[in-house]
Amino acid sequence: MEIGTHTRLLGVMGHPVAHSKSPLMHNRALESQKLPYTYLAFDVRPEELPQAVNGMRALGARGWNVTIPHKVAIMALLDEVNDEARRIGAVNTVVNDGGKLIGMNTDGAGYLRSLEVETGLRLEEQRVLILGAGGAARGVAYALAQSGVQSVVIANRTVAKAEQLRSLLQHLTDVKAVPLAEIEKWIDDRTLIVNTTSVGMHPHVEETPIPGELLPEGAIVSDLIYNPMKTTLLRQAEGRGCVIHNGFGMFVHQGALAYEQWTGVQPPLDVMRQAVST
Ligand code: ATR
Repeated sequence: MEIGTHTRLLGVMGHPVAHSKSPLMHNRALESQKLPYTYLAFDVRPEELPQAVNGMRALGARGWNVTIPHKVAIMALLDEVNDEARRIGAVNTVVNDGGKLIGMNTDGAGYLRSLEVETGLRLEEQRVLILGAGGAARGVAYALAQSGVQSVVIANRTVAKAEQLRSLLQHLTDVKAVPLAEIEKWIDDRTLIVNTTSVGMHPHVEETPIPGELLPEGAIVSDLIYNPMKTTLLRQAEGRGCVIHNGFGMFVHQGALAYEQWTGVQPPLDVMRQAVST
């Protein structure tokens, strides 16, 4: 739809943000549905985050995405942060609800949707192993723990961080925290293995968070990384007859859930997927 006085502002705040695919994905979707919004990328330095948030408020933006490094710091600058985002400790989506800025997190729900749609798994049958306990792990671990899976093991190089995440999830499911170095003791009975560490991401594409030969045959192996689309871990998993899943769908679905919050309209998933897959 042509930009005019009725057009409302959406966007993403990050630093850096130049390589974000969100503007392309959202604008293609908005155009396809002829909705009166436009989505821009805002490179906001950490020290300017408060002014940027107030600017968005003053300009009456409908909402925006928040990415690295602002996902935690923005929480203190909003009027409200919903329960899930507060527990996860990070906001990736802001909605301006009649002047009130509300923080949410669509990463975990986006991950679950993508996992379900792409692998067709039954969550209630899964014994989960999460590799990593950083920012990316929190939303995904929270969503999985809440989804009715049988149990969760969190393995991290720094055990204290795995312990912290365990305490966040313990009221939701049977959960353990273990050292990544002892992974061979915990991996054999796992049916779903999720890599949330950055190990294997471009340009270090040869690296894997755990040796591939430890992957149980026939398990589902999911890697949040989408550059490259098939990490060495996923390649090795495929060689062992595992079902593989990457982070591309999570990116699309977290965006789609934010889009739905802002526009109130069911997002055109195929358009969004297509926009960022080239
Ligand atoms: P993100 O927000 O992407 O999760 P993060 O919060 O820095 O980034 O977390 C990175 C995760 O990858 C952590 O779990 C980290 O382990 P530590 O908590 O021990 O640092 C993990 N990670 C990064 N590099 C790693 C490596 N070479 N081997 C094992 N784990 C690694």
